[in-house]
Amino acid sequence: MNPTGDSAAPESGDPQAGRAGAPDDIAPAPAEIRVRPGEPLAGELEIGGAKNSVLKLLAATTLAEGLSTLRRVPRIADVTTMIELLQSFGCGAWFSDDDVLHVEVPERLEPHASYDLVSRMRASIAVLGPLLARCGEAMVALPGGDDFGSRPIDMHLSALERLGVDIDVSHGYVHARASVLKGEEVSLAWPSVGATENIMMAATAAEGRTVIHNAAREPEIADLAAFLNRMGAEVLGAGSPTITINGGGPLAPVDHTPVPDRIETAVFLAAVGIAGGEITLRGAQPGHLRMLCDKLGEMNLRTSTIKGGLWAMAPQRLRATEIVTLPYPGVATDYQPLLVAMLSLAEGVGLVTENVFANRFRYVGELVRMGADIRVEGRCAIVRGRERLSGAPVRATDIRAGAALVVAGLGAEGETIVRDTHHISRGHEDLVGKLQSLGADVAWVPAG
Ligand code: UD1
Repeated sequence: MNPTGDSAAPESGDPQAGRAGAPDDIAPAPAEIRVRPGEPLAGELEIGGAKNSVLKLLAATTLAEGLSTLRRVPRIADVTTMIELLQSFGCGAWFSDDDVLHVEVPERLEPHASYDLVSRMRASIAVLGPLLARCGEAMVALPGGDDFGSRPIDMHLSALERLGVDIDVSHGYVHARASVLKGEEVSLAWPSVGATENIMMAATAAEGRTVIHNAAREPEIADLAAFLNRMGAEVLGAGSPTITINGGGPLAPVDHTPVPDRIETAVFLAAVGIAGGEITLRGAQPGHLRMLCDKLGEMNLRTSTIKGGLWAMAPQRLRATEIVTLPYPGVATDYQPLLVAMLSLAEGVGLVTENVFANRFRYVGELVRMGADIRVEGRCAIVRGRERLSGAPVRATDIRAGAALVVAGLGAEGETIVRDTHHISRGHEDLVGKLQSLGADVAWVPAG
């Protein structure tokens, strides 16, 4: 283990145009995002289903033959990739409404996840547990590293071995086989989200009881447990560090609405913090955002739970604070680029410590190109706030860093052009359109 330690009216072609219909109608984003500073934000918008939940729930649909339905599914490229993966196993998948996705799971699956699909999205590894549970075997390409460094899956594999899975890693693939899965005690050295999910899903088919110690506690884990329980599984304690799965029972397809996306919520909180103003985020779940809202409070951003969502109002100027990323309920590593963007414009010196991923400050050079004063030393970033940043062409380096650069542009003089927007389209549904709905001066423009 290695924890360190579109609805938008485009000026030209909107890459997310034509959203209804087949899942593959999200074109790769050839366009760039142009951001200009403007009036304070105002208005309200709807938060979508959590990407990090939906992807695992889609993998989990394969556990039961028949038709499962997911609602509030964001129209993002990662969902398209997961749909293609399910189709490659022999499943049918289609949207019946803008955000209602159906998956028809056949009796027999082809348990093979190709490198082409897995290399597009690390979350593809989430199919390993369900394929083993359903087919007793799986051949899944190794996901490899990504934009924040090497991301091993050793904990996924050693836990599955404890459940009786034979694993052979060769030629870039994990070959996994289990004639019988057996319930066991599994202790994770770090509360890995992905490992916890894979074990939970495999354990639904294991004989007897599986107990996961030091399990991840993210809201998306509790959501997966709710989904599995609705299917007929017996998963107890999700959301706490000890999860028990009494396996072996039959599972049936379900209809489920995933939890709202707390990271998308954080994007708009950062946006209002930087641009100023007052917004309402309908459907947001404040209970999942407590630590973040506490931190934002220290930065003088006011948030308040309202019926059906979250309200936020920006101060005259943000104030710097100290931030440490940790597994849930700590401040999520996925918020980190957004918080660094906010600190770049805050009064005072902020200190950010990244504890989850070894190399998650790669995007900082892009903020520095916008005039931010940030020094990275190992796992820490020291951020000296500036009154304004300076608009510049920058590149999105990953999903969350891309969103952070867009919101940073709201606090920069002149024009910011964010390139490599395919990263943003992977995980953020209609970011441009949603910001426009709050009055932000943001638009898709043709690639320069
Ligand atoms: C998930 C989220 C990601 C989020 C992360 C941490 C999805 C699609 N992605 O990723 O957005 O940033 O949780 O909240 O849900 N590790 C090992 N060995 C393993 C597994 C993990 O060393 O077998 C290490 C990782 O390298 C990392 C840390 O554990 O340093 C946390 O990883 P993990 O919680 O597994 O993240 P993901 O599930 O990949």
